[in-house]
Amino acid sequence: MSKTIIGFLVLGLLAYSPARPTLKDAFKQSFLIGAALNRAEIYEQDARATAIVREQFNTISPENILKWGLVHPEPNRYAFEASDRYVDFGTRNHLAVIGHTLVWHNQTPKWVFADSNGKPLSRDALLQRMREHIQTVVGRYKGRIKGWDVVNEALDDDGSFRQSPWLKIIGEDYIAKAFEFAHEADPSTELYYNDYDLEIEAKRAGAVGLVKRLKAQGIPITAVGLQCHNSMKWPSLEQEDATIEAFAELGVKVNITELDIDILPPAVKNLEANATLSAERRAELNPYKNGLPEATEKALSKRYADLFGVFMKHRDVIERVTFWGVTDAGSWLNNWPVAGRTSFPLLFDREGKPKPAFESVIRTAGAK
Ligand code: G3I
Repeated sequence: MSKTIIGFLVLGLLAYSPARPTLKDAFKQSFLIGAALNRAEIYEQDARATAIVREQFNTISPENILKWGLVHPEPNRYAFEASDRYVDFGTRNHLAVIGHTLVWHNQTPKWVFADSNGKPLSRDALLQRMREHIQTVVGRYKGRIKGWDVVNEALDDDGSFRQSPWLKIIGEDYIAKAFEFAHEADPSTELYYNDYDLEIEAKRAGAVGLVKRLKAQGIPITAVGLQCHNSMKWPSLEQEDATIEAFAELGVKVNITELDIDILPPAVKNLEANATLSAERRAELNPYKNGLPEATEKALSKRYADLFGVFMKHRDVIERVTFWGVTDAGSWLNNWPVAGRTSFPLLFDREGKPKPAFESVIRTAGAK
């Protein structure tokens, strides 16, 4: 047989070889697999990312557009254009659509906590405002949003309540009230408490106490969201395992809601300090701007596989694993805590190609 004919046969076989497995198919017996979408992705201005979302994921979260400051920027003005598009995109593509987030201390305008004279609101007035916001936003998408991060990041690392304006003005029951209002607005939507670093023992204990109290009061909390903004070493697999188990024991589901793995050198957490970082220090903090060395790429793949090993172990309680972004190019970690770095925290590279970590995650799907 001539070389040309053999060449054509090989090409033909390649063309007809079964399609590469996708994340959503690989894990369909275990949990949903999702990605958070930024504004450009929601508006389908990034064709590459849109194609990846359609092909690989079966659930989406909004990275920013449903936060209070964006959806309700002024006292009597809601801005639903982006969130309508987000929910429509999910519905059209048969994706489980997640709401993020109703009550948070960040990205919430100052006016929310003040009266028309700029004086702090009373407890009753703030509760009323919170109810109106939740009823309007949750009510608008009633029956179309699978579940809401009702309250986000209400705890400090020591497990005590974060001293947010919500806590200071309303008191500890602002959390239960937010859940009640959300349930009232859409009795069929799932309700989540979402937080980061629940792998820290003290913080986890605080969250366990909170969930127990909510359940004892008959508040319909469906799941706890572990954000999982992880690094190569933090948290350990044992910590991740123990954290999932601690919530599973309470009879709530566990969602992995904002997964990414930061491989860049740790930097100052104080954003204001960024402007004053010397060029030298900046270069030191951004070591992979021309690409990731093979050994680091391998280490990232292993770290992802190890974490998914833990998630698979708990697939009976985990309903969803959502990545905080679609490709490395769109990750918030390119701009936090230092702006303008080149970060590699996700499964798809800057060109939208699956990384070695993608393959290693897919391989964990067959675990028994
Ligand atoms: O849209 C403006 C743009 O117009 C402006 O030019 C630019 C200048 O800085 O800012 C843009 O807004 C930024 C926005 O992201 C969209 O990119 C905000 O400054 C920036 O603060 C905002 O950051 C978001 C962050 O939450 C705010 O706390 C990140 O995108 C988002 O990924 C991040 O998500 C949070 C979760 O909601 C909760 N858990 C932690 C997670 C990571 O911090």
